[in-house]
Amino acid sequence: MPSRRAFLFLTASALGAPYLARPAVAARAGRPLPIPDLVDASGGRTELSAIAGQAHMVAGAATPVLGFSRAYLGPTLRLRRGENHALRVHNRLDQPITCHWHGMRVAAVLDGGPSLPIAPGDSWSVSLPVAQPAATLWYHSHVHRVTAEQVYHGLAGLILIDDPEAGDEGLPSRYGIDDLPLIIQDRAFDQNGQLYYLKRGPALTHGFLADKILVNGAIRPDAKVPAGLVRLRLLNGSNARIYDLRFSDSRAFHQVASDSGLLQGPVRRDAIVLAPGERAEIVVDFTDAAPVTLLSRRHDNRPLSGGMIREMSHLLPGPPPQSEFGEAGAFDVMRFLPDPARPGLVAALPERFASAASAPAVEPVRRRVITLDMFTQGSGTGPGTQTGGSLHKIMFMGMNNTPFDHAVINQRLGLAEPELWTIRTSVMAHPFHLHGASFQVLRQNGEAVDFASHGMKDVTLVRGETDILFVPMHPAGDPVPYMYHCHILEHEDAGMMGQFVVT
Ligand code: C2O
Ligand code: CU
Ligand code: CU
Repeated sequence: MPSRRAFLFLTASALGAPYLARPAVAARAGRPLPIPDLVDASGGRTELSAIAGQAHMVAGAATPVLGFSRAYLGPTLRLRRGENHALRVHNRLDQPITCHWHGMRVAAVLDGGPSLPIAPGDSWSVSLPVAQPAATLWYHSHVHRVTAEQVYHGLAGLILIDDPEAGDEGLPSRYGIDDLPLIIQDRAFDQNGQLYYLKRGPALTHGFLADKILVNGAIRPDAKVPAGLVRLRLLNGSNARIYDLRFSDSRAFHQVASDSGLLQGPVRRDAIVLAPGERAEIVVDFTDAAPVTLLSRRHDNRPLSGGMIREMSHLLPGPPPQSEFGEAGAFDVMRFLPDPARPGLVAALPERFASAASAPAVEPVRRRVITLDMFTQGSGTGPGTQTGGSLHKIMFMGMNNTPFDHAVINQRLGLAEPELWTIRTSVMAHPFHLHGASFQVLRQNGEAVDFASHGMKDVTLVRGETDILFVPMHPAGDPVPYMYHCHILEHEDAGMMGQFVVT
C-alpha cells in the first residue's frame, strides 16, 4: 500500500533528524527536462488524484513522493478565459489535502484553501469560472500546519490560463517545445535517496533550504530547445529558497509576464529574482545555438545574526553546490542545449501586448497595516522551536502579532471596495501572498514601483515596507474565507497567515 508507506515517511520526516553529517547522494544531473503532461480542462470533467508513488531522482534509489495523478508534481492544467471548467480532485492519501488554485480569482468556496480539506478517500468537485487574463498560475495542497511537507513531497502543479480572444500575442506558445514550464525547487536527500525534510530550529526560522536544485522534478536537467526564441514559464515552487536567476554567459532576456499575466510589453533584463510562489515568463533567444546554463546567485535571507543562530549554525544545511562557472555563491539550475537543426518558430517579439493585465487605477477606500512577525517567547538560552521539547524559547510566527487561528477572521473587506495594504516585515524578507485577488505593488520602502516592469502580482517579496493596492471582486464568507500569508511554507505553517472575508 503505497499511500500508507508515504504517510509513515511523512511522519518520520516531520519528527526530524539533525542536519548533522548528512552523507551526500549521487545527484543525477543532466537528465532530459521532464515536461509535465498538459491536460486541457475544456470539455469534460478533469480528474486529479493525490497519490503516493516513487520517483527516480537520485542514482540507485527510488524516492517515495506524493503527486497529483503521477509520482511527483501534477499535470499542467490548461484553462481558458470565459469558460467554466469542471474539475474533481480525489484524495487517495492517508492524510487530508486541499487543492488550492494559486492565483485564480474565484470565490473563496472554490479556491481550495485551508478551509476546504478533502478527507482521505474523499473527492472535491468544483466548477471553476475563468474570468482573468492569460497567465501562469499553479495549484498546491494547503492544509494548515502541513502545507510545507505536502508541497515539498510533490503536491503541486502548474495552471496555464489561455485567453482565446487575445490569442498567443505573438509569443512562443508550443507547450514543451518553445514554451517550457519550469518548476524550480530545492530538495534534500538522505543517504538512502529519500527526501529529507525538517521543520524546526533554523529550518523553521529560515524556512527549509536544501542543496539539490530540481526543475520539474529532475536534478539540474538539460533541455533541448529550438535555436530561436523560447518562452520559459518560471515558477519558484520551493518552500523557502529565493532565486536570483541569470544565464552563465550573461545574455539578456525579456520578461513578458509576471504572476497575473502579461506585462504591457517585453522588459529586457539580465537577471530576475523569484521568491517562493512567484512566477515570471521570460523569452530567451537561443539563435546562436550555444549551450547555456541557467544559474542562480545565492540570495541569503538570514533572519537573525545574534546568539540564537550562531549556536545553531553547525546545523545549517550546506550551501548549494558552487557553479561550475566559478561565480562565488552561484549555483546551477539547469542547462539549455539549442538544436541548430531546429529553428525557432517565432522570429521576433512584439513591442506591446494588447491583453496585458492593467493596474487598478482606483483610490483606496480603506487602508490597513499588516505586519509579518517572528518572535520568541519564554526564557533560557536554547534555540527556538515550535515544538519546544526541552528547549526554553518558543518561536512564534504570526501576522499583526497573532498566529493563524482557523476560528478568527482577521480582516473584513467590502466587495469591489479598493484596499491599500501596507505590509511590514522585520528580521527578514517574506514573500507576501493574497488569495482571491491580484494586486499592484505601489511602493517599496517609500519608493514608487514601476508598473510596466512589475505587472499585476499575487506574491511580492517584502523586506521592510511594501504598499499594495487591490480590488476584491469575489466573495468570501465566514466558514470559507480567503487567506493572506507568507509563502515561505514553514512560516505559513507556523502561523504567519491570516483570513479575510469579502462581503
Ligand atoms: Cu500558494 Cu495560500 O498559496
Ligand atoms: Cu494562493
Ligand atoms: Cu515568512
